[in-house]
Amino acid sequence: MRILVTGGAGYIGSHACQRLLRDGYHIVALDNLHRGHREPMEILKGAHPESFEFVHADLGDQSQVLQVLDEHELDTVMHFGALAYVGESVEDPLWYYQNNIAQAIGLLQACDQSRGGKGIERFIFSSSCATYGDPPDDMIPVPEHCPQNPTSPYGYTKLHMEHILKDYANSRAMKNNPIALTMLRYFNVAGSDRTGMLGEDHEPETHLIPVAINAALGKRESMSIFGTDYPTPDGTNIRDYVHVEDLVSAHVLAMNSTKQGEVEAFNVGIGKGYSVREILDAVKRVSGVDFTIHDAPRRAGDAIALYNDPTKIKAKLGWDAKITDIDEVVKDAFDWIKAHPNGYAS
Ligand code: UFG
Repeated sequence: MRILVTGGAGYIGSHACQRLLRDGYHIVALDNLHRGHREPMEILKGAHPESFEFVHADLGDQSQVLQVLDEHELDTVMHFGALAYVGESVEDPLWYYQNNIAQAIGLLQACDQSRGGKGIERFIFSSSCATYGDPPDDMIPVPEHCPQNPTSPYGYTKLHMEHILKDYANSRAMKNNPIALTMLRYFNVAGSDRTGMLGEDHEPETHLIPVAINAALGKRESMSIFGTDYPTPDGTNIRDYVHVEDLVSAHVLAMNSTKQGEVEAFNVGIGKGYSVREILDAVKRVSGVDFTIHDAPRRAGDAIALYNDPTKIKAKLGWDAKITDIDEVVKDAFDWIKAHPNGYAS
């Protein structure tokens, strides 16, 4: 397989590139560098000069994407490139719909025209547990058949893309030219690669674990808990934190397991929920710093509690999270951020 990785310069995309390169695949990473970084692309090119290329482009630039797909004879797409902040999506929904849907349709059109009009063979889509919104009580932990009712524009962009991709897969099947489509609904991704080469560097940074680490390292004076009056045991939101390397393993399994004509959706999360306070305690344990935490109002768009029921992904893909100790996840993130106090250089 020869793989296009959109959003390849981003946090999850770069970790996916690294794993796929180690597994011996030919990879082209495509990224507009809006939130991605050039440095991880240079690191990967240095380590894999023959099998890795980076292309600086918008994923919605149909003609350029088509040229890349054809020039490198790519047959598989892992589509990571998207805006991914719940709160930001509430503030600027049109930007999210433009970027995560309109641009992605350009990508899909290029995919459809590639290989002399035959189209690509495999598409692995980064969906999200944000598509479930606030699941009913009897659906927590969340199985894949849970009703999808997002609470944010971000969640809707992922849900709409699932529908668009299913319609596209259906049209390919009707033309006797089936595609393999896998939609991976991530829970909260955290940690960094254990060689210390790649990490999480967002600007702005809004994710809980890196924000707390920044507070522990003195890069910010304090941090806030967004909402302490939720109907949960300690009043704060509950999430399922999956290590980025485990998440990437799910992609490799999905890519190799889903067959032509199959459309599959899998949740990717460890199956255990941690409250915001429990995560902050873990960051304090790992860092050894008792940083200042303020209670703050709820953040718009946040679901109350989301953690995975991993039954389907275990049974069908044989996937299981290897790193389930939250202190280990936090430590990987902490080590990279501490070693890179200003993030990537580029
Ligand atoms: N939180 C705080 N303070 C902060 C940052 C976050 O209390 O400074 C809380 C949030 O309110 C939320 C929890 O920590 O309850 C986790 O928030 P994150 O921003 O780390 O993650 P989200 O759950 O909002 O979103 C992330 C990804 C999405 C993905 C989603 C699935 O950004 O792409 O997980 O839950 F869809």
